[in-house]
Amino acid sequence: MPNAKLNAAKSAVALIPDHGALGLGSGSTVAIFAKELGRRVNDEELAISVVPSSYQAYQLAVQYQIPLTNLDLHPQLVLTVDGADEVDENLNLTKGGGGALFQEKIVASASEKLVIIADESKLVDRLATRFEVPIEVLPFAMGVVLRKIKAMGIEPSVREATRKMGPVVTDNGNFLLDLKFSNPIDNPHQVAIDLKMIPGVVETGLFVGMTDEVHIGTKDGSYILKRP
Ligand code: A5P
Repeated sequence: MPNAKLNAAKSAVALIPDHGALGLGSGSTVAIFAKELGRRVNDEELAISVVPSSYQAYQLAVQYQIPLTNLDLHPQLVLTVDGADEVDENLNLTKGGGGALFQEKIVASASEKLVIIADESKLVDRLATRFEVPIEVLPFAMGVVLRKIKAMGIEPSVREATRKMGPVVTDNGNFLLDLKFSNPIDNPHQVAIDLKMIPGVVETGLFVGMTDEVHIGTKDGSYILKRP
């Protein structure tokens, strides 16, 4: 749905202030947003800089000549724009399809406002309906984390790389587990806590209570969902 992604991205570009430090998310929809952001920053000479949430986001900022900053210089960000794999009716999210969930969550947590851009295929009633929930795991802890996840009745699989043998190694040097739940998640807040309490789980792809707005792109336009 390239047009839908473009329309979502354009909708969020309208929120860009004329100055300030922003968080730049990751994924294919954000890649479209970054191009539009770069155009605005350079054409309109906006005093904008971004904290990238992944190596991909870093490369996008370089490609589109968007000034870079970091969380040491800017521990508080005006706005982060990011994508999502699933969005539930309370605007809770599953993220990490592209493997970038850990830094994405840190950047989102530093932001006064988190805006998600996505096409309608990402909307679900409950999380884990169509997409597995990724978690980032310290390699040293993999065996014990696998055992504990299975004991919770969840089916984990180690994410494998495609053009490298063996597991995906994240931007932070960790592994990823994709968690298959037997049913969609009723209480994402509790599940996120339960998973995060396992020593060795660095972060989860459940983003609960963080989103302010979701800009949904369609083939003809876009609309905005706001947190109740
Ligand atoms: C990156 O790991 C993810 O959290 C992405 O933001 C998410 O997978 C959405 O990506 P797309 O915009 O490519 O669907």
